[in-house]
Amino acid sequence: MDLLTGIRTRRSVRKFTTKVVEEEHIKAILEAGFCAPSARNLRPQRFVVVDKEELLHELAEFAPNYGRLHDAAAAIVVCGDRSVQETQEFLIEDCAASVQNMLLAIHGLGLGAVWCGVRFDSDGAKALRQKLEMPNPVIPIALIALGYPAETPTVPERYDEQRVHWNSF
Ligand SMILES: Cc1cc2nc3c(=O)[nH]c(=O)nc-3n(C[C@H](O)[C@H](O)[C@H](O)COP(=O)(O)O)c2cc1C
Repeated sequence: MDLLTGIRTRRSVRKFTTKVVEEEHIKAILEAGFCAPSARNLRPQRFVVVDKEELLHELAEFAPNYGRLHDAAAAIVVCGDRSVQETQEFLIEDCAASVQNMLLAIHGLGLGAVWCGVRFDSDGAKALRQKLEMPNPVIPIALIALGYPAETPTVPERYDEQRVHWNSF
């Protein structure tokens, strides 16, 4: 699949088969995460891979929108190290860039995934930090629930002339 086709056809997948995701695929996905740009190239992104079924079920209960983890074969918790990038906006943006890279890699590998938002300082975020034993400066920014897809969402046309402005708004 060429890059633009991959970008155009990626959709969130929320239903997964029970098939285990191979470790080599997980590593390829993580590499895509590491390849993301980051402010001043500080690379504050940290990743926690969760592939134990029992732990996935436990994390799924920490917030209503983490529930997708119940069905997922694995999860990647995308974290930011505040001791490396102290500017909060950049920390979030760096992690978001990694998430998108990984979603595209997942799609390119024939897998599926959904980005689950983690709210700052929420009970869910606190529970994740504690359960996954994150050191103090490290905070969770996003969860990726992934697996082999059990659904194929349709791909809508998204280019919208109305939202594009050339040279002035
Ligand atoms: C910051 C962020 C948080 C999101 N959180 C959730 C979530 O908690 N649960 C969920 O099912 N989808 C979540 N999504 C996925 C969006 O719902 C999805 O990307 C959007 O509906 C567009 O669909 P698509 O990904 O198929 O293009 C999130 C996406 C982003 C960017």
